[in-house]
Amino acid sequence: MLKVLTIDGPSGSGKGTVAKILAQKLEWDLLDSGALYRLVAYGALKHGIELDDEQSLSELALNLDVEFRLEEGSELLIPVFEGEDVSKKIRTETCGDAASKVAALTPVRDALLDRQRAFATEAGLIADGRDMGTVVFPDAPVKVYLSASAEERAERRYNQLKSSGESVSIAAILDEIKARDARDMNREVAPLKPAADAIEIDSTHLSIDEVVNQVSDALSK
Ligand code: CDP
Repeated sequence: MLKVLTIDGPSGSGKGTVAKILAQKLEWDLLDSGALYRLVAYGALKHGIELDDEQSLSELALNLDVEFRLEEGSELLIPVFEGEDVSKKIRTETCGDAASKVAALTPVRDALLDRQRAFATEAGLIADGRDMGTVVFPDAPVKVYLSASAEERAERRYNQLKSSGESVSIAAILDEIKARDARDMNREVAPLKPAADAIEIDSTHLSIDEVVNQVSDALSK
């Protein structure tokens, strides 16, 4: 049977953290599909490609010159784009915002499909994203949809930024989260929504450990 666990959900729901913990625990591979959209956005910004130029963006996505290297002494994969370690550069708000714009284009999503599916091997895969259970791995035996209130997600992001020394207002973060949700949920192609057979977990009042335990329980059933 296909050893794939999909975890979809909105920005800040904790899916990335949960996916990483589970991948280490189970020794399965990890697909951070958002990183691929962020890489396309980064490449577009780097090469001066307009964010609505479908033809150039889909060519960029299809030929994405990226390699995921294992960081020494860690389990983390470093995205190396056109020879450059871009792990920090693709995490900026500018890149996240541009990623959600290029992600709304069908040719870009189509161009990334095979690359994402190639991550599924016999080793097992945790696939983290927006459409892992609905489009990329519709036959995955276990699918999770992780959500949390927009206010809780804004607070988590605020605390994250504060601890890394950045000063932004919580109101600005909440606005940004709501705008990104609206774009991800209302787009025509692969809108963010739970797969019909997904287990839905609301993490608003749950710790990461509690979410990891609930997902582990679902996997062992
Ligand atoms: O970490 P965060 O939730 O901020 O974003 P991400 O998972 O890195 O994804 C960045 C953007 O890429 C999202 O806002 C989505 O618009 C898009 N994305 C997508 O459309 N489909 C995916 N499978 C993953 C990400």
